[in-house]
Amino acid sequence: MTPADMAATYAAAFTQSRPWSTQEFQTLLQSPHVFAAGDQRAFALVRVIADEAELLTIATDPAFQRQGLARQVMAGWQAEAARRGAVTAFLEVAADNTPAINLYESCGFESCGRRAAYYQRTQGQAADALLMQRDLR
Ligand SMILES: CC(C)(COP(=O)(O)OP(=O)(O)OC[C@H]1O[C@@H](n2cnc3c(N)ncnc32)[C@H](O)[C@@H]1OP(=O)(O)O)[C@@H](O)C(=O)NCCC(=O)NCCS
Repeated sequence: MTPADMAATYAAAFTQSRPWSTQEFQTLLQSPHVFAAGDQRAFALVRVIADEAELLTIATDPAFQRQGLARQVMAGWQAEAARRGAVTAFLEVAADNTPAINLYESCGFESCGRRAAYYQRTQGQAADALLMQRDLR
């Protein structure tokens, strides 16, 4: 999976926000702390620093959604993050993104905070961010 593959899947999946470019994925992946999980149908990008993992993004191509791929990718990146020494995982999600919140809750993440008007939208009002976390031990 190349940075261009990631940018294509991301652009297909995220319709309400500015897509990340190939260059942005490339730059993130140059960090030794960042890794990708999954494949072009569904992938996640994760950063592990010391004992904390952060889910930077996850996306499933709309042609492959509701087939359990994101759940598989979630399990894969959490195992890799734990292997790299992470004991806690964090993520941020728009408070109105019900599919993603359902996914994260079904993977054991719990809400631990909220940031008001955090996500700018291409149309309409900014959305709050929910912060979620989970123990990886
Ligand atoms: C969120 C997203 C990654 C889920 O991908 P997916 O591969 O379709 O998810 P899965 O098939 O593995 O579903 C796992 C669980 O997530 C939840 N879920 C997924 N899509 C859902 C939907 N449209 N509505 C409600 N719940 C949903 C369900 O709990 C589902 O379990 P179930 O199918 O047993 O009910 C996908 O919808 C997506 O790419 N959305 C756009 C990008 C995005 O919002 N990413 C997260 C940003 S923080």
